[in-house]
Amino acid sequence: MTAEPVAVPHVVQVDLAGRTALVTGGGSGIGRACALRLGAAGAKVLVVDRNLEAAKAVAAEAGGRAEGVDLSDAAAVDRLDVDVDIVVNNAGLQHVAPVQDFPVERFEYIQRVMVEAPFLLIRRALPHMYARGWGRIVNISSVHGLRASPYKAAYVSAKHALEGLSKVVALEGAAHGVTANCINPAYVRTALVESQIADQAASHGIGADEVIEKIMLARAAIKRLIEPEEVAELLAYLCSPPAAFITGASIALDGGWTAN
Ligand SMILES: NC(=O)c1ccc[n+]([C@@H]2O[C@H](COP(=O)([O-])OP(=O)(O)OC[C@H]3O[C@@H](n4cnc5c(N)ncnc54)[C@H](O)[C@@H]3O)[C@@H](O)[C@H]2O)c1
Repeated sequence: MTAEPVAVPHVVQVDLAGRTALVTGGGSGIGRACALRLGAAGAKVLVVDRNLEAAKAVAAEAGGRAEGVDLSDAAAVDRLDVDVDIVVNNAGLQHVAPVQDFPVERFEYIQRVMVEAPFLLIRRALPHMYARGWGRIVNISSVHGLRASPYKAAYVSAKHALEGLSKVVALEGAAHGVTANCINPAYVRTALVESQIADQAASHGIGADEVIEKIMLARAAIKRLIEPEEVAELLAYLCSPPAAFITGASIALDGGWTAN
């Protein structure tokens, strides 16, 4: 059973005035909530999304600015202003198909957006963070960075790769005041999930309600979708002073999924 949306108050006290942040995929869903949360904490946020109009709308609300970039385009990623204190690698997409039918170009595209782009952004952002002696890399991974599901070869591969990248950056950044962590949500109430419900229904040959109850929430102990704002509140905590010792971690926000 899917619960109604729950209200998520800002409980983390964090002052990010004077900090700059970049959020990929900030035009929608989790990225939007992250950009708004960082903006509310006082950071100047650069909202990056292939959907420029959506990015502009979020930037206006967050008090930041927007760039329209397709993150699969390495040259365009390299043109982004990455002199920022906080990088949130969030942009992602899903493709559902059995491995033997998985389109090769779709697999490659997903690796470019969800692994190569975070690498390119991090490698160019680190010198600025090292110079300031402070930085936060927050990678929006997934429960699928820790566990697999059938029909999601590209997504599960990409998220597992992001986990590895995050840990390496944590080790290298530690001496410079830079932490790198993954947040690992189960199913969050966003457009990505709405489209997956339809895709999964087609792949499994079942109805949408059954997908939510029997597939999406089957492995979670808490039977509701997560709100994007719950993910953003954890991001706020990771940017706060008491979180300075948290690095190289993968923080499950999965309603007990990985407890199984
Ligand atoms: N929704 C979930 O249940 C869930 C669960 C775990 C992890 N995640 C992860 O959270 C992240 C955000 O997901 P969401 O549910 O908010 O998705 P969403 O579809 O609501 O938003 C994704 C945003 O990324 C942008 N984007 C996609 N491909 C891009 C590209 N090539 N270049 C630039 N921008 C691009 C889209 O335009 C969109 O604004 C993803 O990495 C996803 O894997 C989502």
